[in-house]
Amino acid sequence: MSLQNPIFIPGPTNIPERLRHAMNVPTQDHRAPDFSNTFLPVLQDAKIVFGTSEGEVLLFTSSGTGGWEAAISNTLSPGDKVLIARYGMFSHRWIDMCQRHGLDVQVIECEWGDGAPADEFQNILAADTNHEIKALMVTHNETATGVLSDIGAVRTAIDSADHPALLLVDGVSSIACVPFKMDEWGVDIAIAGSQKGFMLATGMAILAISPKALTAMDQAKLPRTYFDFRDMLKANTNGGFPYTPPLNLIYGMRASLDMLFEEGLENVYARHHRLAEGVRQAVSA
Ligand SMILES: Cc1ncc(COP(=O)(O)O)c(C=O)c1O
Repeated sequence: MSLQNPIFIPGPTNIPERLRHAMNVPTQDHRAPDFSNTFLPVLQDAKIVFGTSEGEVLLFTSSGTGGWEAAISNTLSPGDKVLIARYGMFSHRWIDMCQRHGLDVQVIECEWGDGAPADEFQNILAADTNHEIKALMVTHNETATGVLSDIGAVRTAIDSADHPALLLVDGVSSIACVPFKMDEWGVDIAIAGSQKGFMLATGMAILAISPKALTAMDQAKLPRTYFDFRDMLKANTNGGFPYTPPLNLIYGMRASLDMLFEEGLENVYARHHRLAEGVRQAVSA
């Protein structure tokens, strides 16, 4: 860990010395095999952190907010109804983005400090017998309040209502810090950012996409160009990027995944829990 000007905020995080060095790479021809040899295993190994073997991981040069935009524009169409609970600044900003994209947003207003209201989701979804609600968006860790929501409970609510809505999860400040079980929880898109649990510089949205979301992608009519999953998937299949990749962040991600796996994900989660619990108890005291 660099001791230079340490910061004590939820993110961007302090960048470990090893990762700062890993990102210090000379420019490389990103159309040469050297790049694919690093890039493709990064996509593959990142799946472990998301808890998915069925999904695809895609990297976009943007911060986490771009990940939200990629998620909605690739799965939804103008006027589609979506369900979101507002319980902090980040859920609020995702609502705002959905409204600005012309979606019909049903908002559940919660106390800031509460988590995702699984029971209320279940009631609303059960009443939506025509299946007009196309997606549920949930902020996993609401960074503004520090409250973690139970995504497993949200999945149970969706299944109990026997509803086909997509489940899109903002894991920007949770993924790689707390357990994330994308396949088990039936998450359709999970969004992370390079500058939080992955301990890197800001500038890369890291998304995992389920097979169901990939099917929705072909029906979605919201405009998208830069964030079009189809362009990214096609380029990735050939070992590359559709445009200039964030080379330094991808090399950093290789080293970040190595660090996470060397420590062991369970130990990483235990460390975050210990530090978080220490802060909670200190504040209470
Ligand atoms: C939970 C959550 N979602 C989304 C964002 C937005 O990410 P970014 O600032 O990288 O665009 C943040 C940033 O702090 C966040 O904590």
